[in-house]
Amino acid sequence: AREAHLRSILETIPDAMIVIDARGRILSFSAAAERMFGYSEAELLGENVSVLMPSPDRERHDSYLERYYATGERRIIGIGRVTTARHRDGATFPIDLHIGEAEIDGRRVFTGFIRDLTERQQAELRVHDLQ
Ligand code: HEM
Repeated sequence: AREAHLRSILETIPDAMIVIDARGRILSFSAAAERMFGYSEAELLGENVSVLMPSPDRERHDSYLERYYATGERRIIGIGRVTTARHRDGATFPIDLHIGEAEIDGRRVFTGFIRDLTERQQAELRVHDLQ
């Protein structure tokens, strides 16, 4: 019942929420994430989160995790970052990424919240054009 409740909350959050394990493998992928990236959760469970980003981050994301374990230095966790994501169809789009860290049953997981900035960026460009 608790799981179902959590699921129903996740259905309604407009931002994508993605949970990964310590090796970057996707553990959960919210309904908004499915809409944003064009993949179903079932297709991505166990896949590396790097499928959601363009090169060169795609090839480097595992090393970003390694760097974090080696140094303990947080560069996005608790800070946030405007960066670029990749849709299933190959199109890239601007995002605001927030990452949190948690422990579930003694295992390290990361929760990512992603807001699609496409509309905001287009609005900014229109404002710019009007000036
Ligand atoms: C680190 C890109 C999604 C978890 C990084 C870094 C980059 C990056 C560039 C290294 C930061 C630096 O060294 O300055 C991206 C892009 C994403 C994405 C483009 C687009 C989809 C995610 C998601 C999660 C995640 C969804 C978690 C659910 C992490 C963690 C680190 C990291 C744990 C290391 C800790 C830190 O640097 O604070 N990512 N990432 N990333 N990313 Fe991602």
